[in-house]
Amino acid sequence: MKRKFLLCMFLGLASIFTANAAVNSDDEIKSRIAPVGKVNIAGAKAETASAGGPRSGADIYSTACVACHSSGVLGAPKFQNAADWAPRLEKGFDTVWQNAINGINAMPPRGTCADCSDDEIKAAIEHMTEGL
Ligand code: HEC
Repeated sequence: MKRKFLLCMFLGLASIFTANAAVNSDDEIKSRIAPVGKVNIAGAKAETASAGGPRSGADIYSTACVACHSSGVLGAPKFQNAADWAPRLEKGFDTVWQNAINGINAMPPRGTCADCSDDEIKAAIEHMTEGL
């Protein structure tokens, strides 16, 4: 009876130690992987920033604005449509630009392009109003 108890104790302890060993090695693996991952991500970001630079107005328009501004969804002024844009541009370009950045009525801030810079928004508006 006593032996069986000791055997159980031994097996119990042994399994606790193996479980701990597994946790430790997992942690070790994580800590070994983490710095490499960080370096890679930082490198990738630096590359996009230097290689990409600011996107063109046409690029921004065709990815972020076209959904509403091509057909005039919710009353959005349509692409290069003089009648739609004239009353807006009368407010002055900077006002229109600020409204696009901050949002106005159904127009969401930055047209939902959260990673668009102020200048990229400006370029997109210039693209939509070019020649008007
Ligand atoms: C979800 C639809 C939607 C998207 C996407 C969208 N717009 Fe608009 N936009 C609107 C609507 C609706 C209006 C009209 C708002 C009003 O004056 O009532 C508008 C108005 C504007 C105006 C005129 C603001 C003024 O002062 O009259 C500008 C400039 C503009 N949008 C720029 C953009 C740009 C740039 C993008 C892309 C980065 C964009 N919009 C994306 C819906 C959208």
